[in-house]
Amino acid sequence: MNLTLKIWRQKNANDKGQIVTYPITGIEGDMSFLEMLDILNDQLITNGDDPVAFDHDCREGICGMCSLYINGEAHGPDRLVTTCQLHMRKFKDGDTIFIEPFRAKAFPVIKDLVVDRSSFDRIQHSGGFISVNTSGNTQDANSIPISKNAADEAMDAATCIGCGACVASCKNSSAMLFVSAKVSQYALLPQGQVEATDRVLNMVKQMDEEGFGNCTNTGACEVECPKGISLENIARMNREYLSASLKG
Ligand code: SF4
Ligand code: FES
Repeated sequence: MNLTLKIWRQKNANDKGQIVTYPITGIEGDMSFLEMLDILNDQLITNGDDPVAFDHDCREGICGMCSLYINGEAHGPDRLVTTCQLHMRKFKDGDTIFIEPFRAKAFPVIKDLVVDRSSFDRIQHSGGFISVNTSGNTQDANSIPISKNAADEAMDAATCIGCGACVASCKNSSAMLFVSAKVSQYALLPQGQVEATDRVLNMVKQMDEEGFGNCTNTGACEVECPKGISLENIARMNREYLSASLKG
C-alpha cells in the first residue's frame, strides 16, 4: 500500500504544533500500525530528520501506552484493540491517515504524539489500591468466598489498561470510565470493602483536581475503549460515591 500520513508534529509542550504530510510506500496489510510508524521513522532518520515521537511499550495490548488518535478515533477504526494491535489491513491503498495525540487538558502534549498521562497515576495513588495486613494474621484470600458473578465483573473492570482512550473520545474529556473501572475492581470484592469509602471519595476528588470534565452519558468512552469497559462501572461508581458521601 502507498499511503499519505498527516501527522501532528510538536517540538515540545510550548510549541504551537502543526500537521505535517509524509508519503509512505510499501506498507503490508499484516504490519501493525506502530510498525508502519517505525518504517516512517527509519526513513526520517536516514534523511537526517527528527523521527516522530510516539508512546509504546508492550505492543500486545497490555500496557496502555500506545495512545494515538487515528482518523478521528482513539486507537483507530477497529474495535476492542489498541493502536499496537491495529493492523494496516484496516486501511486501503491510497488512503490518507490523520494521526494526532490524545487531546485533553489533563493530558498535555509532551512532544509530537506523546502526552503526559501522569494524572491517571495520581488518581490511582489517591486510592486505587488495597492495603495489605502483613501482621502474620492475614486471611488467605482463597478462603474468602466470592460469587462467580462478582468475580467476573471485578475481573472485567480490572482489564482497564489506563490508556486514556475514554478521555480522548469524550467531548467533556471525562475520565469517569477509567476511574469507575479502578473503583469497581475493588468495590465488587470483599477485600476492597475496608477502604471503599475513602477510595471513591479520594479518587473522584483527585479526578476533579486534575481537570477532567464531567460525564454526560454520551457513551463514546465505552465505544472506543479497547478493553470493552462497560458504562455499568460508572453507574456503580456513582452509587459508591453517593453512599460514601452520606457516610462521610
Ligand atoms: S476504561 Fe478503557 S479506554 Fe479508559 S483507560 Fe481503561 S482501557 Fe483505556
Ligand atoms: S504498546 Fe502496550 S498496549 Fe499498545
